[in-house]
Amino acid sequence: MIASSASLTTLTWPGQLRVEPDAEAVAAHVAERLHQALEDGGVLGLATGRTMEPVYAALRQRLLALPKPQRELLLRQWRSFNLDEYVGLGPDHPQSFAAFMQRQLAGPLQIERGSLAIPHGLALDADAEARRYSAAVVAAGGVDLQLLGLGSNGHVGFNEPPCSEAEPCRCLTLSPATRQQNAEAFGGDPAAVPARAITLGTAEILAARRLLLVVTGAAKAGILRRALLEPPCPEVPASWLQRHPRLEVVVDLAAAAQLELS
Ligand code: GLP
Repeated sequence: MIASSASLTTLTWPGQLRVEPDAEAVAAHVAERLHQALEDGGVLGLATGRTMEPVYAALRQRLLALPKPQRELLLRQWRSFNLDEYVGLGPDHPQSFAAFMQRQLAGPLQIERGSLAIPHGLALDADAEARRYSAAVVAAGGVDLQLLGLGSNGHVGFNEPPCSEAEPCRCLTLSPATRQQNAEAFGGDPAAVPARAITLGTAEILAARRLLLVVTGAAKAGILRRALLEPPCPEVPASWLQRHPRLEVVVDLAAAAQLELS
């Protein structure tokens, strides 16, 4: 089901909302979008998190089904920038986002590690690393399609509330809510989740040519409603996405439960 903005009673942003029956159908649609962006030779902006696991599984399946020469040609052109990384975790740490990307995409698809850019979590100067990373995105010509998940407190990337719509790539302190949200990967202990991260800012995210926000599960229904239907505000960083002229939101029915679809 595709709901245009006109079919939502209070929606004011110009983008498109797509509601799929479940997370699997969401993943299939998003994988198709990513595949198309690769075919177009675009620079991808990639995200981590549990929401993206079925998305990347569907993308792997699509790409591995291609004839080998076609797949190899496509994967040689791969250029992507991840949103964020924990400060203090290097690619050899299993909970680093670099390791996540290696497991999800680079390893199974045999993409060269260097083609998937991600901030260096072990950089001696994390602020300088954030500046370098932002400049690298610009030097690559910017991001064509930015994939985004939604944090339970409304963050995108690791842009924690409060957050203006023009925050640059930076090193910041993670909120207790986010460390709680991500504790599962660290043996269930929020204190084991790194305290700081480097993230592309709302400035870089909103500079991408197209945005694709992916949200699944009933637990995100309330924050998704705030992000899409309330006026943009610093307390819900994802609400700034409403200002982007080419935002597509892909959700499952459970996440859409509070969107007042007509
Ligand atoms: C993480 C990431 C975000 C991700 C979000 C949701 O902390 N930094 O990029 O989108 O939180 O995660 P999940 O999909 O596991 O709910």
